[in-house]
Amino acid sequence: MKKVIRGGTVVNARETVKGDVLVDGEQIVAVGQIGPVEGAEEIDATGCYLLPGLIDNHTHMSMPFGGTTTADDYNTGTQAAAAGGVTAIVDFALQMEDGGLQSSLDQWMGRAEGTAHVDYGFHMAVTRSDEGTFKDMPKMVDQGVSSFKVFLAYKNVLMITDDLFMRVLEESKEHGGLVQVHAENGWIIDRMVAEALGRGDTAPVWHAHTRPEWVEAEATGRAVRFAEQADAPVFIVHVSCTSAAEEIIAGRARGVAAYGETCIQYLFTDITDLERPAPEGARFVCSPPIRDAVHQPFMWDCLKYGHLQSISTDHCPFDDSQKALGADDFSKIPNGLACIQHRLPLMWEHGVREGRISMNRLVDVCSTAIAKTFGITTKGAISPGMDADVVIFDPNTPFTFSTATSLMNVDYDLFDGKTVAGSVRSTLCRGSVVFDRGEIKTQPGHGKFLKRQPFDAALQGDLAG
Ligand code: URP
Ligand code: ZN
Ligand code: ZN
Repeated sequence: MKKVIRGGTVVNARETVKGDVLVDGEQIVAVGQIGPVEGAEEIDATGCYLLPGLIDNHTHMSMPFGGTTTADDYNTGTQAAAAGGVTAIVDFALQMEDGGLQSSLDQWMGRAEGTAHVDYGFHMAVTRSDEGTFKDMPKMVDQGVSSFKVFLAYKNVLMITDDLFMRVLEESKEHGGLVQVHAENGWIIDRMVAEALGRGDTAPVWHAHTRPEWVEAEATGRAVRFAEQADAPVFIVHVSCTSAAEEIIAGRARGVAAYGETCIQYLFTDITDLERPAPEGARFVCSPPIRDAVHQPFMWDCLKYGHLQSISTDHCPFDDSQKALGADDFSKIPNGLACIQHRLPLMWEHGVREGRISMNRLVDVCSTAIAKTFGITTKGAISPGMDADVVIFDPNTPFTFSTATSLMNVDYDLFDGKTVAGSVRSTLCRGSVVFDRGEIKTQPGHGKFLKRQPFDAALQGDLAG
């Protein structure tokens, strides 16, 4: 089945052109002035921008964490993704047991298969050290799970030791993987948490005070130094603040293949949100914590000038009853924010409309550069031969964030009541309309597993497409 999306303006990372998009089946076959196409479905996009489907490289669906499980599964979470213009996610599988990685990947694959509305891939988090783990790392890359994650925080839960971290970097490099790092010093955090609780400081804002900026900067610097020593690429996830980003910039200046992302919560919320009255403050607990707003201009500049490659959401949703596990003790609040649906409208409003980044840069940090960093060769650009993943974004139809219209499976919307000027009208994933004017049009299972290529340093910073 052919489709022609007519009358829009195509925005890629490199350029913006007025033009139509011809889709045949699951792929884009032409971009430009397209004449009549017999039998094709016509989609009118007059006055709209056509963006490559966004990729969210950092999500947590159906993940056991913090004594509970994240509230979105691959069905609800990918509906919300599509409503936000996202056509692919790369979700985190966690190593759950000794003896290797394969059984954990199988669990995550089993949960996602047949349920997702947009395409999905996996990173594999290495949480234990045994020979089975290292034997399975090349198997992960062969299966298209070409990135790993290690945690330098969450002591006694997910945190690994420095010697294991170094070995993961070495093995990953050997097999073409990319190691991602949750960079906070778990030892220091545990000490500060015990001190705060001992004083009776139990409110959500103490989550931020016990994970200060220097604790993130130290671990980030350590991760970059380890990568330098191992001569391996490294990607720092959820960079929240200036001094942590500066460690990445310094590493890059020394020639380290160091990359990173920030997340929308670090641009659009700040530490004062943690001080909201219960139950609201707990909704903003994530790690690294949201910071003082003074960091935000620098984080925007990191995206503008390419110091960070991506802005993701770290979507890790828990509803109020789950967050209430920490009602009397901030350290028991499950960590994570619900925001997969909101990246594009927020980035358009405060990034493009307010002049912080161009729309091409928005496309790069939300899609194109992510595709290149994470080995997704079929997405990230509106161009012939690519998957027909297209967002029809209407810059003149306002969007109001609200719990009622949120498709995220939590009982609140973090931005409830806020209005922005533009909205996602439709999202196509591999040629099918998944989301159109507020409604989901696909069945669970439309989304397919995304087999990713090994990390390719040569592609980084290349805007072609
Ligand atoms: O608070 C967060 N970020 N929750 C998700 C788990 C992680 O560390 O990415
Ligand atoms: Zn993390
Ligand atoms: Zn995360």
